[in-house]
Amino acid sequence: MGASTDPTWMTSAAPAVLTTVAELRAAADDVRARGLTVGLVPTMGALHEGHLSLMRVARRQTDRVFATIFVNPTQFGPNEDLEKYPQRLAQDLELCAQAGVHAVFTPSRQEMYPQGESTRVTVSRLTEHLCGAGRPGHFQGVATIVTKLFAATGPCLAVFGKKDYQQLKVIERLTRDLMLPVHVVSAPIVRAEDGLALSSRNAYLSSSERARALALSRGLSLAGQSYWDGERSVAALRRLVLEELEAASVRVEYVAVADPEQLEPRDDAELLTGPALLALAGVVGNTRLIDNLVLGIDPDPLAPSADGEE
Ligand code: PAJ
Repeated sequence: MGASTDPTWMTSAAPAVLTTVAELRAAADDVRARGLTVGLVPTMGALHEGHLSLMRVARRQTDRVFATIFVNPTQFGPNEDLEKYPQRLAQDLELCAQAGVHAVFTPSRQEMYPQGESTRVTVSRLTEHLCGAGRPGHFQGVATIVTKLFAATGPCLAVFGKKDYQQLKVIERLTRDLMLPVHVVSAPIVRAEDGLALSSRNAYLSSSERARALALSRGLSLAGQSYWDGERSVAALRRLVLEELEAASVRVEYVAVADPEQLEPRDDAELLTGPALLALAGVVGNTRLIDNLVLGIDPDPLAPSADGEE
């Protein structure tokens, strides 16, 4: 790569496709050596507007955007959807190009977990509740792959969605605790017009399941309105969501009101004195879906949004 001119991979319309850690590291080093900043958007692919909104945030805040597409095996439980997780690399690359991404890192499993590797990153406390309770090992897998991606990329600004609120808090915490040279930025949940939070897993839903799945955002919306109207009882706010989910035959994994930073669930008997995370997980058919709202902060999930960006 010449020192005085931008190498092709940083300027051509199609993003460069990088498959090895060495290529990713060299490309990011090269950007920084030119005095430019690196943006990083980790994903598992099957990209949708939620992912693209993160790429646009990275585009606005950094000079060169790297997206990663890797279905990370260590964050899937033994009975989860690892082998059927949707994969559409050609379409994803096209979407990355449209979003102005400069490079896409798509490593093999062997590249990220070479023979003999044995290190895992564990974030305690934050991972005990909410999704951590029902998916043992999940956040360890997430923390491990994100640490690897941060280590391979080096100093950068990394963008994550609030859709996976607990994941965001885990990543913020590990970045701070391990003193990684990464600035973690969050972006709001992007929803379909009818309120359903976009997710790669929505592709599994039949049309009737998708209609039932609307109970998630509807429940959050009802509880959010009730909060704005002055309701502060944890039990009452949870009940509003639970009733909505049960009416749509959504199998509830949890509906929790929790501290928005520590993620410690509030007791049903408590009255809220400040903003609180209202988070839920439920199963529709065979598809596990999550959603959340920060009471007292986030807008109504059913209110039409400008373009889903802050
Ligand atoms: P994935 O589910 O592909 O999500 C990648 C990023 O997109 C995450 O930061 C997630 O919060 C964000 N995202 C997904 N749906 C969104 C929506 N509707 N609105 C806004 N942001 C949304 O999360 C993962 O992959 C993985 O766990 C990963 C961090 C890549 C580690 O393997």
